[in-house]
Formats: sequence, structure tokens, C-alpha cells
Amino acid sequence: MKTLKALFLGELADMYDAERRIVKALPKMAAAATCDKLKKAILAHLKETEGHVRKLEQVFQSFDEKAKGKTCEATVGLLKEGDEIAADFKGSPAINAALISAAQKVEHYEMASYGCLHEWAGLLGNKEAAALLQEILEQEKAANETLTELARSSSNDEALGESVDTGSEEASEHTGGDLPRGSRPVKSNHDRAEAISR
Ligand SMILES: [Fe+2]
Ligand SMILES: [Fe+2]
Repeated sequence: MKTLKALFLGELADMYDAERRIVKALPKMAAAATCDKLKKAILAHLKETEGHVRKLEQVFQSFDEKAKGKTCEATVGLLKEGDEIAADFKGSPAINAALISAAQKVEHYEMASYGCLHEWAGLLGNKEAAALLQEILEQEKAANETLTELARSSSNDEALGESVDTGSEEASEHTGGDLPRGSRPVKSNHDRAEAISR
């Protein structure tokens, strides 16, 4: 019968493959970004992602296992979509919003995966692995929040092709595609986009 440990090691191999693919993809995303702050944020997360590969190797080691990857089809698909959207929106004012949305999809996948891995490492009684996975999870969450801030502070408005008074908005974990909510006395971004496209 397959055990929780087998499930854990299988998912660990999945993320080991995912992180190595992300290390290769992030420099391309940074090069495609036209917003300096976004470029910097992507390159900073590249450094962290290289660290994730090393931390995962330590997690394997803590289980006396050799690090090995198993093709992560989800990441292959997410990165392929990222490539496609970056190519589609090259030269458009929406390029940075497009890149942020692609990057946030990857971050959310990572957050879901590391949330599970961290819990499972705890259940398996491996404190060292649980601590390493928690560190990675926190960095993924922070990267996602940085992307949310960049989307809200500039990239979404830039994509709209005009400057919008953003007012005060509640924070949420992802905004690449979020529209402003609440009681803003201005038209929604959707209305504005429609007006612009007419
Ligand atoms: Fe990562
Ligand atoms: Fe990440």
C-alpha cells in the first residue's frame, strides 16, 4: 500500500522539477518586463528560487534520499501559458499585467504545493524538512504579495492605458486579474476598459 511518505516524496520530486524549470523561466520573464520594479522583483525571486532548489535537496537529504525530479506537468503548462501570453502582449501596455498574472499562477501553485508538503513533513515527524518547507512557503507568499502590490500600484492601470485613482482597496492574495471592489465612486475598470475599446 502507498504511504504518506511515498506521497510526500513524489510531490517533493514534482516540486524539485518545478523549481528547476522556474529558474530557467524567470530570466525570460524579467527580460520581457518593461517595468523596472517588476524586473527587479522577478530577478530577486530568481535568487530565492535558486535557493529553493538547494533547500529541496536538503529536504531529500533529511529523509536520507537522493534528490530527484519528476516532470511537473502543471508547471510545464503554467510556464508555457506564460510564454504565450508574453509573446501575445509584447509591445503592449498590458505586458506587465500579463507577466504578473502568469507569475502569480506559478506562485499560487507553489503555495498550494508547499502548504501540503510542509504539513506532511510535520506529520512524518521530520522537523528539519518541515522548517525548510516553511521557509520556502513564506518566500512564495511574499513574492506573490509583491506581485499584487506591483499590479495594484502600476501595472493594471498601465494595462488600461490611462491613469486611474485607485483609492483605498482591500488587499487580497492575488490581483493580477482582480477588479477594484467596494464603494469606489468611480466607474469599474471593466467599464473603463469597455469605454476605451469603443
Ligand atoms: Fe519556489
Ligand atoms: Fe516562486
